Amino acid sequence: MRRGVAIFLVTTIVVLSFAVHHVWTLLELLVIDGKEDAILRAELPAPDSAAISERPQLIPKIIHQTYINESIPAHWVGPQQSCIEKHPDYEYKLWTDRKSREFIAAEYPWFLETFDGYPYPIQRADAIRYFVLHHFGGIYIDLDDGCNRSLDPLLAYPAWVRKTNPTGISNDAMGSVPRHKFFLNAIDRLPDYNRRWPLPYITVMASTGPLYLSVIWRHYNKLRPQEEDRVRILFPAEYNGNTWSFFTHHLGNSWHNNDVKLIFWMASHWIILTVIGFTVGLAVLWCIYSTFVVARQTNGSKCKYTRLPFYRRISTKDIELDDRHEV
Ligand SMILES: *[C@@H]1O[C@H](CO)[C@@H](O)[C@H](O)[C@H]1NC(C)=O
Repeated sequence: MRRGVAIFLVTTIVVLSFAVHHVWTLLELLVIDGKEDAILRAELPAPDSAAISERPQLIPKIIHQTYINESIPAHWVGPQQSCIEKHPDYEYKLWTDRKSREFIAAEYPWFLETFDGYPYPIQRADAIRYFVLHHFGGIYIDLDDGCNRSLDPLLAYPAWVRKTNPTGISNDAMGSVPRHKFFLNAIDRLPDYNRRWPLPYITVMASTGPLYLSVIWRHYNKLRPQEEDRVRILFPAEYNGNTWSFFTHHLGNSWHNNDVKLIFWMASHWIILTVIGFTVGLAVLWCIYSTFVVARQTNGSKCKYTRLPFYRRISTKDIELDDRHEV
């Protein structure tokens, strides 16, 4: 049996290594905070300070937003207007479904098939923002984000995105110069990541949404980009909730469904779920092992719970699990 346990452990390690290798970037995202790329509050002029105009303005003064059509719902008109009014010298572009498709067809025809094929409209709304930032540059803002102050200080960085807690970056407020390498990556990899997952929320997050962008961001930073290619990070305190923050976040995510509640529940119970996952995984491996290896050596049959080493140790009596299992 000792040899059996050794084989079992080796198999487990191989399978686990394979699994960990597969999700390595996701695991890295849990520990990477992006602090080395932070846009520090100390380097940001106070709202309305004269120092703002002395900073370089690399990003073009364009605000991009997306919606189905021109009829913005009443609850988003306030945030939308706050951004327009605080930026009278900026061009304002609202990317409706029709305009977005025309733009992709005209400027990025290689992407049109993927764009049209997305099962969820929010995937098109995610994708279009990377393309317009790559093409025109400017600042993309979700409609549920209002502007708390002028975004001028953020024009000084070639590209920036916003950090989310506890992991990764968001795609709801981002700025870039045209043709920045990060957004080139973000548009380039979209077809590769166009996969369907069991839940719509995961499909959207991983194919075009914040999770997709976070994975691209992680891969991009591994290549140690030059100073002008660096992606700077806006942290939560500079994003929302303080007098010096740039945005005011309004509730109203239009596409969140029931599976979101499940995901959020899973996120807040991830430790117990990980333990359960490992336990179930080990049990399955043990079953496979005892079915194919032990059974051949001992003429035993199938996976028996009583063979589980963990179970043996806990149980005092040999409960008739075998029989029940065979039924
Ligand atoms: C815009 O889209 C909304 C939501 O689908 C719809 O209710 C509304 O009628 C549309 N407005 C126009 C002008 O097409």
